[in-house]
Amino acid sequence: MFGEAKFCKGIAGSILIIIITIQRCKELGNSGKEASSDYIRPGPGKVLSTVHYGSDSDPQQVHISLAGKDHVRVSWITNDTTAVSIVDYGKKSGKLSGKYKASATGAHETYDYFFYKSGEIHHVKIGPLDPSTTYYYRCGGSGEEFSFKTPPSTFPIEFAVAGDLGQTEWTASTLKHVGNKDYDVFLLPGDLSYANAQQPLWDSFGRLVQPYASQRPWMVTQGNHEIESFSSIEEEPFKAYNKRWVMPFLESGSTSNLYYSFDVAGVHIVMLGSYAPFQADSDQYKWVQADFAKVDRKVTPWLVVLLHAPWYNTNTAHQGEGEKMRKAMEALLYQARVDIVFAGHVHAYERFTRVFNNTANHCGPMYVTIGDGGNREGLALDFKNPPSPLSSFREASFGHGRLSVFNKTHAHWSWHRNNDSSATVADGLWIETFSGSNACKEHSSSSKDEL
Ligand SMILES: *[C@@H]1O[C@H](CO)[C@@H](O)[C@H](O)[C@H]1NC(C)=O
Ligand SMILES: *[C@@H]1O[C@H](CO)[C@@H](O)[C@H](O)[C@H]1NC(C)=O
Ligand SMILES: *[C@@H]1O[C@H](CO)[C@@H](O)[C@H](O)[C@H]1NC(C)=O
Ligand SMILES: *[C@@H]1O[C@H](CO)[C@@H](O)[C@H](O)[C@H]1NC(C)=O
Ligand SMILES: [Fe+2]
Repeated sequence: MFGEAKFCKGIAGSILIIIITIQRCKELGNSGKEASSDYIRPGPGKVLSTVHYGSDSDPQQVHISLAGKDHVRVSWITNDTTAVSIVDYGKKSGKLSGKYKASATGAHETYDYFFYKSGEIHHVKIGPLDPSTTYYYRCGGSGEEFSFKTPPSTFPIEFAVAGDLGQTEWTASTLKHVGNKDYDVFLLPGDLSYANAQQPLWDSFGRLVQPYASQRPWMVTQGNHEIESFSSIEEEPFKAYNKRWVMPFLESGSTSNLYYSFDVAGVHIVMLGSYAPFQADSDQYKWVQADFAKVDRKVTPWLVVLLHAPWYNTNTAHQGEGEKMRKAMEALLYQARVDIVFAGHVHAYERFTRVFNNTANHCGPMYVTIGDGGNREGLALDFKNPPSPLSSFREASFGHGRLSVFNKTHAHWSWHRNNDSSATVADGLWIETFSGSNACKEHSSSSKDEL
């Protein structure tokens, strides 16, 4: 906790320390079991402060995300209020000519948080784009050229997955391992910057991930560290997150940036919000119900869900925190024949067998906790014993996962532990989707019988 103090300066800093103290107490309160005396985490990781070397008008914190069919959203921040929200792009580099084939205009806005005022946050949607193609782009009409590759339109496709990233040396190590082997889309099940109300840390995080997030789409959902609301001081939750990390919720018929879905190469991915209302009468519940109903497994044979607080978890950390949501929504996911559910929150790796309602069930999703991205809180070292027969693999080490979808029936999942220069494959298995098997026919009127 006191390690955080050095980031605070002046009066604002002192007040922020108080706020952060409140936040930390809240967190421990939420996870009382975690705070028990036998729960020992390694020392906090050193937080990296990533600085911007360019001028105020130079784009920084550049990242891209998928934004509806054949479109990508380019997001960046400038510290100059006159900067324009224009992206020039094309299949040929414009480094020498300064010319790009296409151009698109978006919008920018700022937000205030306590004494902090953000830079101009720009979002520009570009497209239509061709699949599996490298595009070169420039933000704001001048400055550095970036490039990204669009995902393929058909199998195979590879996802890199890591939650609870933060911005420590461990984070840098995870990102390096992610970057060492190509992938198409990055999936993040919540807890991004660990800014914990210190807004400049959101900027620092944006700069740290830019080399990765400017090259491949980063698709994220919210964690508890994104909430950042405090009664009567900063009442609006997810202020920084929603402004900086705009996801394709409008494109997927959702009314909230906290839950949305997208299709990519035969995979339908649904991002749920652990910290948005999820009961049967909630907007999120109704939205996901309608979203699942629209899924055509002939077009997207794979169905994957991400959320933050795990529904299945044998770590002593954060026990039961996902339970209310599980009770509210598990049947929906089961009936929709979701293949895999990725969660974060617990700073460790754990893989479960296919489960429904706490019982092994070959028609239920495989649950994976992958909250091991490397944040400053350290690892969740303490697993409950004896191990649950539902838990197939568990280890408290930093790392990332790879979901490599080969075709409409087969995918390979692997977990890569960070190990200095190389990422060590520590867990891996083949998965077959339901759409290829008769044993678990897609949700139909008869599937009610199986409940
Ligand atoms: C904008 O400039 C101010 C003053 O130099 C600086 O304190 C702040 O960190 C800058 N913000 C960003 C996002 O670079
Ligand atoms: C889940 O199991 C509990 C008891 O273990 C039972 O009460 C409940 O009805 C089950 N829920 C569903 C949806 O089958
Ligand atoms: C899908 O990929 C798996 C693994 O490479 C392979 O064994 C299987 O035959 C493939 N199926 C089809 C329909 O191509
Ligand atoms: C880590 O990497 C080193 C060499 O780079 C290797 O000798 C060691 O076995 C690896 N450790 C693990 C746990 O994989
Ligand atoms: Fe979390």
